[in-house]
Amino acid sequence: MLAPLANLPLAFADVTVTAGAVTVLDRVSLTFEPGAPTVLIGPNGAGKTTMLRAAMGLVAPTRGRVSYGGHALGVAQRRAIVFQRPTMLRRSAAANLRYALASAAVPRAERAERAADLLALVGLAGLGARPARRLSGGEQQRLALARALARDPTVLFLDEPTASLDPAATKAFEDVIRTIAARGIKVVMATHDLGEARRLAGDVVLLHRGQVVETGAAPAFFAAPQTAEARHFLAGDLLV
Ligand SMILES: Nc1ncnc2c1ncn2[C@@H]1O[C@H](COP(=O)(O)OP(=O)(O)OP(=O)(O)O)[C@@H](O)[C@H]1O
Ligand SMILES: [Mg+2]
Repeated sequence: MLAPLANLPLAFADVTVTAGAVTVLDRVSLTFEPGAPTVLIGPNGAGKTTMLRAAMGLVAPTRGRVSYGGHALGVAQRRAIVFQRPTMLRRSAAANLRYALASAAVPRAERAERAADLLALVGLAGLGARPARRLSGGEQQRLALARALARDPTVLFLDEPTASLDPAATKAFEDVIRTIAARGIKVVMATHDLGEARRLAGDVVLLHRGQVVETGAAPAFFAAPQTAEARHFLAGDLLV
């Protein structure tokens, strides 16, 4: 599953997204390079989800452009997203994956084996026959991750995927993230959890009110934030 990185860098060039009178993203320019996960942090309403949606092509910029490897955002790029509360089909875990594999045009003869591989990758080997909706929250979240990986993405977007998980389930999820990042998939994750950002991030993007306030390699960002907003945010002060 080693993903080729021809689709990278993912670039936002002067991207603005407005919704009615509200500016949700405000002239965002950013480049996402291959490598360790990029983590988007920022308070509620900062624009994290909207950035991920724009990167997926689910929301169109009002101005500016999103590109992959220098090419305009199109259907050919291999990208996938996991939302905070994914919805599983009312069938077995393995059948959910076979369905995703069929949608990704994987030949029928290969689907069962690929589904089993994906279940093993996310630590759900042995649970393939279980109705997906009867898995625990943490297990469902890892199944959602497997479903996203069925698309064989080069870039994987995660929107607060552990927000409703307990520490053990969060650890299991983060372990899978490390595994897939090590396989060469570029992970871009939004989180509220600074601990999670410290544990996973190669680099960090701090958003506030639709703008990029600060970016940097994770160790430098956490040790010596450059902006007052970042210092406040890391200190646990409310950014309003
Ligand atoms: N379609 C829309 N219409 C109006 N306002 C919108 C729309 N989409 C997003 N917004 C607003 O844009 C802002 C940014 O939203 P977004 O969901 O991207 O933030 P976020 O950083 O993901 O927040 P959270 O941490 O709460 O998930 C919010 O104030 C939101 O209400
Ligand atoms: Mg959000």
